[in-house]
Amino acid sequence: MQVIKLNATDSTNLYLKELIRNNTIENYTVVVAKRQNKGRGQMGTVWTSEEDKNLIMSILIRDFLTSHSSVFVLNSLISVAINKALETLKLPELSIKWPNDIMSGNKKIGGVLIENIFQSNGKIESVVGIGLNVNQTHFPDLPSASSLQLIMNQEFDIDSILGLILNQIKQQIAHFDLSLLTANYENNLFHKEKLTMFEDINGNQFMGIIQGVNSLGELQVLHQENNSLECYNLKQIKMIY
Ligand code: BTN
Repeated sequence: MQVIKLNATDSTNLYLKELIRNNTIENYTVVVAKRQNKGRGQMGTVWTSEEDKNLIMSILIRDFLTSHSSVFVLNSLISVAINKALETLKLPELSIKWPNDIMSGNKKIGGVLIENIFQSNGKIESVVGIGLNVNQTHFPDLPSASSLQLIMNQEFDIDSILGLILNQIKQQIAHFDLSLLTANYENNLFHKEKLTMFEDINGNQFMGIIQGVNSLGELQVLHQENNSLECYNLKQIKMIY
């Protein structure tokens, strides 16, 4: 597994995508950076990270996904792998906030941004970006963000955490079993089976209970008001917690 270590780049996802375009690089190539100048998050958001404090990485996963409709499988696999890696560090109350925020208690400590390249021959190359807050202790304007150091009261070695996560990703892929993965993902789902407030795309707020995710990765919510079960994609719903 080739690991490319950078002091700074715009975004490790962009850097890896450039490498894919310009070179023949091996599967599971990893790019790690101390600093990102244009870190990107889900839904066009910005991902900020203090220099040399956190894990900022992207990994190429080629030929794992086989179709458009299975894209969510890789999302689940990566979130489960990160959670399993963090379990070994004894982080408390770990969970995955749909679709793939890494949570400890009510705090977000990490996020995942997967960008898939659909080739004309039908093959799919996935650039899996992971941001994990490790030793950063101040998160101005991000009240729900936290880090391993803030939660565990100790500093962590970023390289060792990278090793733990890569190891878990390799294991999850080597022993891939869709029903086991789905069960693992759902068992770790933040607020599953808890009464929760949501806001839909029109700004309407409602109470519902998360039941799980369907095969497309849509969130299944049981509406409290009329007992109807509705499925939502990422653009259609926001959890208020
Ligand atoms: C989220 O919004 O929760 C996803 C955040 C993903 C951030 C990581 S950091 C490494 C990689 N490079 C990026 O520009 N984004 C991802």
